[in-house]
Amino acid sequence: MNNLSIFEINPNASLIHPFSSTLLTWYRTHARDLPWRHTKDPYVIWLSEVVLQQTRVAQGLPYFHTLLAAFPRVQDLAEAEEDTLFRLWQGLGYYSRARNLHKTAKHVVASGGEFPQSYSGLITLPGIGPYTAAAIASFAFNEASPVVDGNVFRILARHFGIETDILHSSARKIFTELAQELIPNNQPATFNQAIMEFGSLQCSPVPQCPSCPLVSSCVAHATGRTLLLPLKSKKKPVRERFLAYFIFEQRGKILVRQRTGKDIWAGLWEFYLVELADFEQSLALLALDPVIQAWFSELDSFALKAPAPHLLSHQKLISKAWHIQVPDHFNMPQMDEYQWIEPEDFKNVGKPVLLLNLITDNLSLQELF
Ligand code: ADE
Repeated sequence: MNNLSIFEINPNASLIHPFSSTLLTWYRTHARDLPWRHTKDPYVIWLSEVVLQQTRVAQGLPYFHTLLAAFPRVQDLAEAEEDTLFRLWQGLGYYSRARNLHKTAKHVVASGGEFPQSYSGLITLPGIGPYTAAAIASFAFNEASPVVDGNVFRILARHFGIETDILHSSARKIFTELAQELIPNNQPATFNQAIMEFGSLQCSPVPQCPSCPLVSSCVAHATGRTLLLPLKSKKKPVRERFLAYFIFEQRGKILVRQRTGKDIWAGLWEFYLVELADFEQSLALLALDPVIQAWFSELDSFALKAPAPHLLSHQKLISKAWHIQVPDHFNMPQMDEYQWIEPEDFKNVGKPVLLLNLITDNLSLQELF
């Protein structure tokens, strides 16, 4: 990273929409000095934007530094083992981001190692959507492509009184067209950073209207609709899932598998899992599980302290766990997906945070790992 200023020069202020000039003036005194604002390297910008998706700056910042130190160039990321990436991503959540990041890096390297230098080129990359393509095109290549994410929906819906449901398929086009009119051609990168900053510091979900420089022209403020905008149809209901985890230990090794498929946590590692419809009634069904049935009558004596319910964006994971010491000569049934590994090796692979909590909450397991 170099010492680029985080502001661009604006030789042509008169052509700017009043909304945009006020926003840029506000940004001059409120911008945080964030590391990705000092670079024009599309790889570093892309990495920062993927880390920051659905993530607050304070939470994402240490991950950004760690990932950039581990993978300073797109080639390093493309060549990394997926497990190494997952391990570094651990705790940041939404692991599909890490998988897509890896896929995109491989694609970029396979196509010559350079990122396309325009929005229209960037959007063709697998794993790069309209927001990220606009962010890279503006921050790295000074293209006037407006970023449109939750922050921008919120600011524009409030300021201009837009009543379109932001989950409706027409919303992105409507908001992007408006943002396109607002973004100044001579300082698109600063405008995009400014609108993101404004969404996180000023026009946040709970807005700071008394100190807002745009309050006098804000439609939502004038009509008392600030907290009602943007309109968003009902969220998906939260689904409860009940996960019964069994830590089988035999001859110093533990039974684990790597998750695959389209469900949560694909690519991460976990203990033997039985998913149940609920814990009240279907715990009894564990007696039918071919691996658990031999231990069923004694399960209470193997029970561990249950972790707190774990919340994902649309799921609430309620879990219980048991630690079962399998006698050396006991023959466990064949389980294709699972394998026995040294606890030491389990330390070095990516695991869901729920499993980490399970280990740290239970003294007897801390000795094992
Ligand atoms: N969130 C997403 N992208 C961001 C950026 N470039 N700066 C600050 N917060 C962000």
